[in-house]
Amino acid sequence: MTVNKQKILLGVTGGIAAYKAPDLVRKLTATGADVRVVLTESAEHFVSPLSLQAVSGNPVSNDLLDPAAEAAMGHIELAKWADTLIIAPATANFVAKLALGLADDLLSTLCLATTAKTYVAPAMNQQMWQAPATQTNLATLSSRGIEVIAPDSGEQACGDVGPGRMPEPQALADLITQPAQEKVLSGKHIVITAGPTREAIDPVRYLSNHSSGKMGYALATAALALGADVTLVSGPVAVSAPLAANLINVESAQQMHEAVMQTIDTADIFIGCAAVADYRPVNVVDQKIKKDNNELTLTFTKNPDILADVAKLERAPFTVGFAAETQDVSFYAKGKLTRKNLDMIAANDVSDKSIGFNSDNNALTVFWKEGEKKLEVADKNQLAMQLMQLINEQLR
Ligand code: PMT
Repeated sequence: MTVNKQKILLGVTGGIAAYKAPDLVRKLTATGADVRVVLTESAEHFVSPLSLQAVSGNPVSNDLLDPAAEAAMGHIELAKWADTLIIAPATANFVAKLALGLADDLLSTLCLATTAKTYVAPAMNQQMWQAPATQTNLATLSSRGIEVIAPDSGEQACGDVGPGRMPEPQALADLITQPAQEKVLSGKHIVITAGPTREAIDPVRYLSNHSSGKMGYALATAALALGADVTLVSGPVAVSAPLAANLINVESAQQMHEAVMQTIDTADIFIGCAAVADYRPVNVVDQKIKKDNNELTLTFTKNPDILADVAKLERAPFTVGFAAETQDVSFYAKGKLTRKNLDMIAANDVSDKSIGFNSDNNALTVFWKEGEKKLEVADKNQLAMQLMQLINEQLR
């Protein structure tokens, strides 16, 4: 365990995800950090100050006008004490307050009074997350240097399904306790493809695969942390994109090809992480296919190979492919490196169900013309950072 002397102020606002706050405090203190917690009034309906005091080992503050608390550590002192501030969960209401610069309770006042590196982990109903007002407020926070942590997607407490879930405490703890990254990719434009493609059969059916987008989105997050400008061309996924990325949503391989080609001119690096369908049905029928026959025959035609087409460009960027293989992983990956004229390829053994498609973890063997490196099993976020560092080392 690394010794971490970080002074972390955790602000908890009133959403259902506040029940995760004690676990988050535990994960943060496990890194050696000193953690103090500030609750809003509504957060106290979801989590008790006493349990947060017990896990943090520090008094919990909740009142701007409490003379006893002010005598112990005044709000300005608390704002100066922290070197990291994280609001988790941050409700839509609190995000709006921050965007406006209001200071009508202890937490919002601290946010104005601190110079600490600030993270916001929004958690709310998916419709509230997608509301233009929320997105505009989050963009305002990002433009002020506050790091907005994209929420997870999935089933919500209210029964809806979509983006708005607070990421797991371990993921948040890993993110805010990782050492600040040197901006080694500053000034570089990186185009990344992620997720699956969908190839339409008729108006209601399509062919696709199990790619979740997690690996590609983790690469986008890592590239942004290293200072790059990122264009993320994504097939349909349930994960939320980092807000600072230029996200282009597509469905089919042909659309992904078109989107990449429109943006590749200014790219220094291209990473093909998407699981692009190799084939698409020749005829997409206008009406739903009826089950009149016992057998159905579809004829397929090859999709454009986005990765190979990028590598062929006269002014090709540093081009990195992925290879998802179930057998002879290194052999097939090296073959793709040479055949598609790539600068680098990351081989994925997708026969192992605990890594690769849809898992939170992955392991890669990376090949380039003069070398190779094994990146052992790790969380996709950690692995993405290792791969981005390796790409940076090998840039011509
Ligand atoms: O999304 P996750 O659930 O996190 O899973 C991550 C992943 C397993 C999808 C990812 O790590 C991965 O391995 N992506 C590549 C999957 C793939 O399609 O591999 P492939 O060996 O079939 O293709 C080789 C390369 O050519 C890939 O870089 C692919 O993006 C690219 N390609 C393939 C076909 C095509 N028509 N155009 C392409 O650009």
